[in-house]
Amino acid sequence: MRHSAYVFDAYGTLFDVHAAVRRHAERIGPDGQLFSEIWRAKQLEYSWTRTLMGAYQDFWQLTEQALDFAFARVPSADRSLRADLLDAYWHLDCYPEVPSVLRALKADGARIAILSNGSPAMLDAAVRSAALDQVLDEVFSVDAVRRFKTDPAVYDMVATRWRLYPDAVSFQSSNRWDVAGAARFGFRTVWINRANQPDEYLDLRPDVILPSLEGLIAAG
Ligand code: LAC
Repeated sequence: MRHSAYVFDAYGTLFDVHAAVRRHAERIGPDGQLFSEIWRAKQLEYSWTRTLMGAYQDFWQLTEQALDFAFARVPSADRSLRADLLDAYWHLDCYPEVPSVLRALKADGARIAILSNGSPAMLDAAVRSAALDQVLDEVFSVDAVRRFKTDPAVYDMVATRWRLYPDAVSFQSSNRWDVAGAARFGFRTVWINRANQPDEYLDLRPDVILPSLEGLIAAG
């Protein structure tokens, strides 16, 4: 193991954000995937625009606003699902390999954390429901700096709190734009390309690309 700390993005990397929609697929109808993608895309767009404007609202508020936009864009989706879809965010499934990979890193002596846009309450609930609270040393929420990724102040929370040079931290994210932000900050980066997406941000490349977290231990 070459890094003293392993820091993970939450949504899409540890927790499956599309699982909530899949669980209610029948009531959402044939546009379920489009609906799910709009919900996620708007949630992220709001995080970037609000950071640029200096007009922070927490990620829970943005998640609700993005869901309402998705309902407006996909009128066939059953609006009575609103509460159930939001509720699912508090009980997200983690991807199957997550607990064993985190435990193995921890057993090797690494510090383990989440660094996420999520509000502290959202993250606390997701971590508990996935039973990851025992293995994590820390959960860093952007709420402490009231800016979202990819603002450098977000990544700096880890380096400052743990008194580490950025290159001592291995940062894992399934979001290519988040990998770009972390690489720019100076973290060693691992892109978990779960959806087999083409590469982008070519001047800010990941150090390692993996299809899931499975190969992380071997990659160091
Ligand atoms: C997060 C989002 C970006 O957890 O997935 O920060």
